[in-house]
Amino acid sequence: MSHGRLADKVAIVTGGGSHPDETGTGRATSVCLAKEGARVLIADISMENAERTAAAIGAEGGQATVFVGDATSEDDARAMVEAAVRTYGGLHILINNLGYRWNARGKGRRGVAEVDEAQLTEAFDLNVKTAVLASKHAIPAMIESGGGSIVNLSSCDGLAGAKHRGVPYSISKGAMPMLTKATAAFHGRDGIRANCIAPGHLQSAYQSKITTEERDRRRRVVPLGTEGTPWDVAWAAVFLASDEARWISGITLPVDGGLFAAQPLLAHDFLQEES
Ligand SMILES: NC(=O)c1ccc[n+]([C@@H]2O[C@H](COP(=O)([O-])OP(=O)(O)OC[C@H]3O[C@@H](n4cnc5c(N)ncnc54)[C@H](O)[C@@H]3O)[C@@H](O)[C@H]2O)c1
Repeated sequence: MSHGRLADKVAIVTGGGSHPDETGTGRATSVCLAKEGARVLIADISMENAERTAAAIGAEGGQATVFVGDATSEDDARAMVEAAVRTYGGLHILINNLGYRWNARGKGRRGVAEVDEAQLTEAFDLNVKTAVLASKHAIPAMIESGGGSIVNLSSCDGLAGAKHRGVPYSISKGAMPMLTKATAAFHGRDGIRANCIAPGHLQSAYQSKITTEERDRRRRVVPLGTEGTPWDVAWAAVFLASDEARWISGITLPVDGGLFAAQPLLAHDFLQEES
């Protein structure tokens, strides 16, 4: 199965589980890391979801194990890293995939003036705190293993304001590029690289409740004119995690079909052309 790009590497993917019949970025990334030879610890709060991803990897001859814990708890973050090191003898890759699910039509759409305090806390806990805690405990283990690569997940909604997203989601995702730079700057000398991926509008489990009309509109504003998938994000994560990216650190890579290459007026023209 292995093409060997990640042979001998040990990886953790947070939120690497999968909902029934749905593939998210966590599952896709876990599968692609394993395809390239990494041994993957799938960390998830749901044993069922994590085992679904582990089974998909096992079915293709890859190596994966499951860790069940709440990524917002520091004890669980520490135990997650210990489990990877105990099981596979080291740690080289951490994918901070776990993210807060924004509420497309509910209170998630509120602006700054209407922000809900509980939702703000929840968004920062799930998007930012989980990534900081996982990195905090992963970095010493990576140093022990001779260096490592961390990939954080942001979002197109973390790079530019969007009325269709709630403010808690956007600003907590906006913190991820800065966490990435801080990690890269502080720990470069330790042999740690940190990079970030900002996915555009994917069709995935994460956004399965989105209407056909909205999906179509999101596809049309993108220069490539197509929808992204979790696999597009997964292969970018594999590259950033691999030694092929050995001199890349601190960047945020949009995986968005060119969304951020287009000026707002061009996106407007795209919508007009096809309507
Ligand atoms: N799909 C998109 O269009 C899109 C766009 C931009 C960014 N993203 C980012 O991609 C990521 C989406 O991840 P996904 O597709 O793998 O989501 P997903 O919903 O498929 O999987 C999330 C997993 O996280 C687990 N989980 C939830 N809370 C947890 C906790 N406290 N501790 C441990 N595990 C927990 C769930 O059980 C689930 O298995 C997020 O960071 C999101 O912001 C997605």
